[in-house]
Amino acid sequence: MEFKEKINLEKLPQHIAIIMDGNGRWAKQQGEQRIFGHENGVKSVRESVEAAAELGIKYLTLYAFSTENWNRPQEEVIALMQLLVHTISAETKTLNENKIRLQAIGDLKSLPDDCYRELHEAIDNTKNNTRTTLVLALSYSSRWEITNAMKQIAEQIENKKLSVLEITEETINANLCTAGIPEPELMIRTSGEHRISNFLLWQLAYSELYFTDKLWPDFRKNDLYEAIVDYQNRERRFGKTSEQLITK
Ligand code: IPE
Ligand code: IPE
Ligand code: MG
Repeated sequence: MEFKEKINLEKLPQHIAIIMDGNGRWAKQQGEQRIFGHENGVKSVRESVEAAAELGIKYLTLYAFSTENWNRPQEEVIALMQLLVHTISAETKTLNENKIRLQAIGDLKSLPDDCYRELHEAIDNTKNNTRTTLVLALSYSSRWEITNAMKQIAEQIENKKLSVLEITEETINANLCTAGIPEPELMIRTSGEHRISNFLLWQLAYSELYFTDKLWPDFRKNDLYEAIVDYQNRERRFGKTSEQLITK
């Protein structure tokens, strides 16, 4: 079924976050090595970014590599980093043509030098684009991010720039990597796993979660549209009752 025409353009989420999972299983199904799955996942990245930009989604965050993924076999980690460097440099032109700004969240300094360089170059080359912001979560984990935020806040208190009584949710937001980025209204995970895997724990507090059995390399524009339609048919109550929302 085609889902694009079912989307209500007045009720689009501003921010969609995706856990791109299932590359390894996809490759195994084809009798190939895991990296073959990662390579084929690039097309799904392209499709999702393009679909989001065409619709006018302001932010798309893609979980590309977690802190825990460093514990994978070294040859997979190296191959993934090479794929990342190659993809980022090859896609910068398309990002600019589509007016997409690139940003990244995570412990970026832990990335290999060439990867870090390419990433920063692409971020710099696309910084004036305003249509959609693509946020890559790289060497990212939410517990790392929250720990980091705690350290920064403690430092501000130690330096007398902040007092304990002044700490609000805003203080925490401002010290996360996602400072300035609205919370995702919709979080999608592919591959049939029903978990968060250390992704945006603070930011997903009230997000609608959508799980699909599709493996990431099979994910296409229509799958994103389907998730958006599903999201648009939900009632977001934020702790209130259904009646309160209707009479508002
Ligand atoms: C997601 O696919 C990509 C990354 C985590 C880098 P996986 O590599 O986790 O694929 P599965 O879950 O093993 O199938
Ligand atoms: C989550 O996928 C991380 C990314 C998609 C980058 P994993 O495949 O690493 O998650 P777990 O280990 O199965 O929870
Ligand atoms: Mg996985």
